[in-house]
Amino acid sequence: MKRMLSGIKPTGSVTLGNYLGAIKPFVEYQDEYEMFVFVANLHSMTIYVEPKELRENTKNLIALYLAAGLDPERVTLFLQSDVLEHAQLGWYLGCMVSMGELSRMTQYKDKLAKGESIGAGIFNYPSLMAADILMYDPDYVPVGIDQKQHCELARDIAIRFNSRYSDTFKLPEPLVPKIGAKIMDLQNPTKKMSKSGDNPKGCIYILDDINVSKKKIMSAVTDTDGKIVYDPENKPGISNLLEIYTTLTNIPISELEDKYKDSGYGDFKKDLANILGESLEKIQTQYKEIIKGDYITKVLDQGAQKASFLAKKKLAKVERKLGITIRK
Ligand code: AMP
Ligand code: TRP
Repeated sequence: MKRMLSGIKPTGSVTLGNYLGAIKPFVEYQDEYEMFVFVANLHSMTIYVEPKELRENTKNLIALYLAAGLDPERVTLFLQSDVLEHAQLGWYLGCMVSMGELSRMTQYKDKLAKGESIGAGIFNYPSLMAADILMYDPDYVPVGIDQKQHCELARDIAIRFNSRYSDTFKLPEPLVPKIGAKIMDLQNPTKKMSKSGDNPKGCIYILDDINVSKKKIMSAVTDTDGKIVYDPENKPGISNLLEIYTTLTNIPISELEDKYKDSGYGDFKKDLANILGESLEKIQTQYKEIIKGDYITKVLDQGAQKASFLAKKKLAKVERKLGITIRK
């Protein structure tokens, strides 16, 4: 069985973009791959978060993974900070990547261009992400398009390490879903749906009131041409809604175009709002059960144990090769 690994930062509430671009595909992958899924809480330190909020977001995210259908018996689900080896390997790998490579990362460049105050963590975090990935020798790393570059850097670092110190890391491949990789803002469909968008009506949150979310679909920006056709370039609004529809239902876009060829935007949106409502309802019901007891802690303990076992072995190997270890 091929191995797959991915992580999500526990910053802010989980959006429909996170769900369709990351959580739902993981749930589908678990039948086919040996999955490692973790909550990247060390990464959330790159920008200030209220500790109380961080705790809540972390718990919610894990509960949502489970509510969406990840099975902790099959998937190693863990919290990054529970496996200390990540930070240690991140340090070694950070010493093997150049300032030039890190400053070419789009996410860093965007922040720099905006003139925001930037902590060193934002600059450095791709080396920690490389450690997260390389630690477990995954074949594939499913990510949204914005994270592809960081995965490629991890691969470059692995190649460098292997050629300098002999074969140690498997070379991972980023896996970007063709559909659903970039769900757009409902009010501004040329921009990615994100918690930090300008208009709250543009972003749907998984744990929000379901009627509010359905209304956001109904008021999504479209165009005046009136045809339900997938054409992201010229019809970004309706194409985005088609992407949401197809990722929620797994019905191919061509079938949807056919189904709605004689319908108006209003009817199409109403159907989509209902489909979304049903999905959210299912997840929220599960979520309420999961969040109650200490189930989450149990899942995390089990996940940390499995992940630590592999991480310890990998770090020991790395340290032997580096010459850090002097004991036999
Ligand atoms: P973030 O919320 O930016 O930390 O992203 C967490 C995960 O969700 C990453 O794998 C992202 O690529 C994915 N993701 C975030 N926003 C979207 C979106 N609008 N469409 C698809 N995937 C997304
Ligand atoms: N940096 C990723 C993000 O911001 C999260 C992440 C951290 C990750 N480590 C990872 C994703 C390893 C995939 C693999 O979304």
